[in-house]
Amino acid sequence: MESILSLQNVHKKLGKKLAVNGVSLDVYPGEIYGFLGPNGAGKTTTIRMITGLTKITSGDIRIADASITSDYKSAIQHVGTIVENPELYPYLTAEKNLLHFARMSKNVTKEDIDSRLKLVRLDHVRNQKVRKFSLGMKQRLGIAQALIHRPKVLILDEPTNGLDPAGVREMRDYLRKVAKEEGVAIFISSHLLAEIELICDRFAIIQEGKLVQVERVSDEDRPEEMNRYQLEVSDLAKAHKLAVREFPKLVIHEKENWLHIKAAKEQVGQLIMFLTSQGVMVYQSVREKQTLEDRFLQATERGVS
Ligand SMILES: Nc1ncnc2c1ncn2[C@@H]1O[C@H](COP(=O)(O)OP(=O)(O)OP(=O)(O)O)[C@@H](O)[C@H]1O
Ligand SMILES: [Mg+2]
Repeated sequence: MESILSLQNVHKKLGKKLAVNGVSLDVYPGEIYGFLGPNGAGKTTTIRMITGLTKITSGDIRIADASITSDYKSAIQHVGTIVENPELYPYLTAEKNLLHFARMSKNVTKEDIDSRLKLVRLDHVRNQKVRKFSLGMKQRLGIAQALIHRPKVLILDEPTNGLDPAGVREMRDYLRKVAKEEGVAIFISSHLLAEIELICDRFAIIQEGKLVQVERVSDEDRPEEMNRYQLEVSDLAKAHKLAVREFPKLVIHEKENWLHIKAAKEQVGQLIMFLTSQGVMVYQSVREKQTLEDRFLQATERGVS
């Protein structure tokens, strides 16, 4: 599948500082992509380049294969975004706000407006003035607005700021829905791990302008991936000795009657077969699940060193 949003070695110099330093990533239709990083990492600067609000110093950003630099008009028509705070008119109703916004783009129908109000669950308050809306409701209307011209890519900079857990959950539900049902690619920045874990399919971690890691959120069972395992064995001392001799590369130690190793799935299988063939019984093998937080800390430590 072709990516719908592609960042290619993007740099941004702000004053003397390289706020974004060689970021490359691809986002595919229907996927929710998290852009995770601490304060000052370069998230907003990157998003401002994707949405054409600031120039790219070097590199390129392509949206539906049009360059935001050399073919701005074709590129930007596929993008929906909320710039800073949603630009809403407090004295207009929810529906009128969307109507007003729809006039700025071509071919938006009454049905589009209805379907967007339904999507973000504001259809029951469509005739209420926005001035009376809670922060969460304004945020939802902002997203409806960003989606009104049926963009292929939705770009959101810290969209859950200020939302309560129920608000975050609702947002996840309707973002999932547009991603899945309409194939919209969604790019969300955040400095909150838990949020990315809940909403996104994949995420990249940015630190001091550089990507340090790109990963899937779901802890997939890729056979080549190194994981920590613990094996419960009948004779720990013997198992340890055999394992160190035959599989010296697996980081191995003994702890509380368990043999601890770091290995890919296949190597674990081989080690178990070997131990068994040497008369050591393996009662169980347990994979330690790594939390997203572990992975984040590992990645950012690696980034610094
Ligand atoms: N106009 C500017 N001139 C000079 N430096 C800037 C300017 N705007 C931002 N920066 C610097 O660029 C870096 C990246 O800032 P950016 O706003 O992109 O970070 P961020 O990841 O969005 O952070 P936050 O989580 O706080 O929103 C920071 O070090 C910031 O101080
Ligand atoms: Mg920011």
